Amino acid sequence: MTEQKIALVTGANKGIGYEIAAQLKALGMTVIIGARDEQRRAEAAKALGVESVALDVTDAGTVEKAAAWIDERFGRLDVLVNNAGIVGGRAQAPTTVDLALVRDVFETNFFGVIRVTNAMLPLLKRSAGARIVNMSSGVGSIGGATAIYGELPPGAAYPPSKTALNSLTVQYAKDLRGTGILINAADPGHCATDLNNNTGFRTAAQGAAIAVKLATLDDDGPTGGFFNDDGPLPW
Ligand SMILES: NC(=O)c1ccc[n+]([C@@H]2O[C@H](COP(=O)([O-])OP(=O)(O)OC[C@H]3O[C@@H](n4cnc5c(N)ncnc54)[C@H](OP(=O)(O)O)[C@@H]3O)[C@@H](O)[C@H]2O)c1
Repeated sequence: MTEQKIALVTGANKGIGYEIAAQLKALGMTVIIGARDEQRRAEAAKALGVESVALDVTDAGTVEKAAAWIDERFGRLDVLVNNAGIVGGRAQAPTTVDLALVRDVFETNFFGVIRVTNAMLPLLKRSAGARIVNMSSGVGSIGGATAIYGELPPGAAYPPSKTALNSLTVQYAKDLRGTGILINAADPGHCATDLNNNTGFRTAAQGAAIAVKLATLDDDGPTGGFFNDDGPLPW
């Protein structure tokens, strides 16, 4: 087995995930990008000079196959960044929302994280000290909802999916106590990506930094927390 750390970043063919992959590679890790679209995956892997694997977080078959491929190829995983996420469109006011849209968003942003994490867990447990980072969002912070994101239109899908992801992160931390695995949620800030039609005021590379920090925590680092560049965030 290689001494180099092995990292998997989901949804890494573009946006913040792509930048996380680039930054982890720059730190000397062997990076695998997971992506659902064959062509975008191949192009991103080539541009980054990293490994890649077919992975749709909503499709258990691809997730299991990806885990089997990583097992065969590398035998373990040191870092998992659950980055893949969707907004689900703007029409998601709670009073009028289409329930199918809410389900779709949760399928990716919440169920997808459980699906991928649990499939990768046997590989993560073989690491000397694995790190899991869940890409959350400031909009998922109930305590922060009245602050920077208070002016955003109400949403029944995306913000609650990230609130649920934050809660899930805490529950995983409890479950993984004693394993050496640290798991935290990250808020990248408002970054210009396709997710928001490039309206963000930060770059995707700036948004990637907090995920990289949480992916490279020392053994005595925090677990079950929610952080941005400035430190812990209100739930
Ligand atoms: N941008 C922001 O301001 C911001 C703020 C807070 C949190 N975030 C979070 O940061 C993460 C990355 O977002 P981003 O801004 O970089 O968005 P993005 O540019 O739209 O990228 C999202 C990535 O997720 C992938 N993806 C979506 N559904 C997937 C699935 N079912 N299986 C595998 N991959 C899937 C996309 O792949 P395709 O190319 O195939 O669609 C794409 O690579 C998300 O979790 C998002 O919620 C972003």
